Amino acid sequence: MPDQVVTRPAGPADLDALLADVTAGFNSYVAFAPEGWEPPDMRTHRAWEAEVLADPATWALLAEVDGAPVGHVAFIPARRQAGERAHWRTRPVIAGLAHLWQLFVLPDWWGRGVAPVLHDAALAEMRGQGYELARLYTPAGHARARRFYERRGWVPLSEAFNEDLGLPLTEYRLLV
Ligand SMILES: CC(C)(COP(=O)(O)OP(=O)(O)OC[C@H]1O[C@@H](n2cnc3c(N)ncnc32)[C@H](O)[C@@H]1OP(=O)(O)O)[C@@H](O)C(=O)NCCC(=O)NCCS
Repeated sequence: MPDQVVTRPAGPADLDALLADVTAGFNSYVAFAPEGWEPPDMRTHRAWEAEVLADPATWALLAEVDGAPVGHVAFIPARRQAGERAHWRTRPVIAGLAHLWQLFVLPDWWGRGVAPVLHDAALAEMRGQGYELARLYTPAGHARARRFYERRGWVPLSEAFNEDLGLPLTEYRLLV
């Protein structure tokens, strides 16, 4: 990772930085999404994102350059699907399974070693917390992310259309 990039734990006070990061990431999906696809409006996800960030079981790490965010990673305990609109806290936790919730790096910093450091830090923390297995979802058409994850041992498990994002997602698993 470039010398000027530093990492620090992220929390609710970093909500805007994380949302900006996710917004830039989703905007980048136009490169592979079907014509006419539009990124979700993260303003509508703000309250949910804030709740998840404030949850004590959430772990998040921010990468910064001169105090400005360049990317972040976050994981949470994996939960079962329980109906489209069930509140996330009501969905049962799957013991031993970590959910790599977000790994987003600003496009200017792609290919510069930030994502690998964030990824590896999350995996190390999962191990430290006693997780045995991790899962993540990434767009099926997102060749860059898929290459990134598969190079690190993640194995595709299934694919399903995600209504919120409007894209098919591939579920990956990794033994941590
Ligand atoms: C996904 C993400 C975290 C990866 O970080 P990154 O810095 O871009 O990753 P790297 O450059 O280290 O690795 C990408 C790999 O894909 C390869 N790649 C780049 N473009 C590609 C393409 N169009 N098709 C296939 N492979 C591609 C790169 O060569 C590299 O492989 P290599 O290490 O074997 O050379 C980052 O691109 C990102 O934040 N994207 C937007 C948000 C996002 O999609 N997050 C994941 C959601 S689950």
